[in-house]
Amino acid sequence: MSKSINVAIIGTGVVGSAFINQLKNIQSKSIAYNVILISRSSKALISQDYRPIDLTSWSDIVKSSSSPSLSNGELLSFLEKSPLPTVLVDNTSDANLASFYPTLIKHGISIATPNKKAFSSDLETWNEIFANSSSPNGGLVYHEATVGAGLPIIGTVRDMIETGDKIEKIEGIFSGTLSYIFNEFSTVVPNDTKFSEIVSIAKDLGYTEPDPRDDLNGLDVARKVTILARLAGFDVESPTSFPVQSLIPKPLESIESTSEFMQKLPSYDDDMKALKEEVEREKKVLRFVGKIDMDKKIVSVGVEKYDQSHPFASLKGSANVISIKTTRYSDPLIIQGAGAGAEVTAAGVLADTIKIAQRIAK
Ligand SMILES: NC(=O)c1ccc[n+]([C@@H]2O[C@H](COP(=O)([O-])OP(=O)(O)OC[C@H]3O[C@@H](n4cnc5c(N)ncnc54)[C@H](OP(=O)(O)O)[C@@H]3O)[C@@H](O)[C@H]2O)c1
Ligand SMILES: *[C@@H]1O[C@H](CO)[C@@H](O)[C@H](O)[C@H]1NC(C)=O
Ligand SMILES: *[C@@H]1O[C@H](CO)[C@@H](O)[C@H](O)[C@H]1NC(C)=O
Ligand SMILES: *[C@@H]1O[C@H](CO)[C@@H](O)[C@H](O)[C@H]1NC(C)=O
Repeated sequence: MSKSINVAIIGTGVVGSAFINQLKNIQSKSIAYNVILISRSSKALISQDYRPIDLTSWSDIVKSSSSPSLSNGELLSFLEKSPLPTVLVDNTSDANLASFYPTLIKHGISIATPNKKAFSSDLETWNEIFANSSSPNGGLVYHEATVGAGLPIIGTVRDMIETGDKIEKIEGIFSGTLSYIFNEFSTVVPNDTKFSEIVSIAKDLGYTEPDPRDDLNGLDVARKVTILARLAGFDVESPTSFPVQSLIPKPLESIESTSEFMQKLPSYDDDMKALKEEVEREKKVLRFVGKIDMDKKIVSVGVEKYDQSHPFASLKGSANVISIKTTRYSDPLIIQGAGAGAEVTAAGVLADTIKIAQRIAK
């Protein structure tokens, strides 16, 4: 090994665990990846002398650790003293840690993350992240897995812009859950299954959040669209600063319990049924999409109609798809595939970690 890098991992949920297991198995001849911290919400495994943690039975060792997790300030001071360049892998959905990225980056710590919070909240945080990253000795920031999990979307859009192409339109299906629901509900071959039944099946299959309203409100799609719009050069203020269609019937928004919501959802099937029958007559299908129009400076999230021959109409399962129209790609570039799942998400984060290491390992 000629070079090394230190890796600090926060979050050992489904993605974090898959990440650590993949990291354990990579066979780099040129760069050593030394894990110096593994943290969960309440406890952490910390290598105080910066010697690499043995990953053989990391999960048990973290579980039995008696060290509490570090505050943001403690994390910064630990990572700052690292004798090697350091990459922080934030595998949480924590907004508090995300809001600390600008400070970490300013102090030379690089970040690889699937956590959308820092990139999709207020525009000021986004600007602080990238301004600090390009300041002298600033850390690098890679966040491929914040949109479409492991699919090569963020890197592709960045490469297009850096090589002088101009993004004109982006349109896509960015939620695996809503992809599944509409692929099953609005089919080319007609099928009478009710909207609420499909939501219920998706919930039973574990495709939705524990409360499906967290998918149906469209906010997750709005966050991803915010990130893409900003990359393309459109300064979207926040994921709530443009029209986002919620699929939750108004009277069911404020219901406390998930089970009561699921029980009442069937009484609102008629609206969706009418819309579906309307598009069937037009030989179209319904899909839940995010759209960015750079010329008109419009961003939106909601249900749209597509011809049965459109690539979005033939989507299967919970796949994501994105269509990117640029000056060079006047016939849009289409990227399609699994847009969720621990293994593909972790691989996206690991690929980012490797890219960072190739630039900064010593
Ligand atoms: N799963 C996917 O398919 C997918 C796809 C794309 C993006 N993502 C994103 O990937 C991220 C991780 O998702 P996930 O599914 O792995 O979540 P998860 O299973 O809920 O795991 C979250 C992990 O983060 C830890 N954590 C939370 N707050 C923390 C804090 N303040 N300090 C330290 N650790 C903290 C939790 O600790 P405990 O173990 O102590 O609870 C847990 O280990 C999320 O931002 C998600 O949006 C996921
Ligand atoms: C990252 O943490 C989130 C929860 O915060 C978890 O769902 C996801 O599986 C984790 N990803 C990796 C690669 O560990
Ligand atoms: C870096 O981020 C901080 C907030 O942590 C911000 O106040 C500062 O303006 C940023 N630095 C640069 C060079 O933009
Ligand atoms: C109709 O859709 C449901 C739910 O997705 C599915 O279980 C069923 O097999 C479909 N029926 C036909 C005839 O395709």
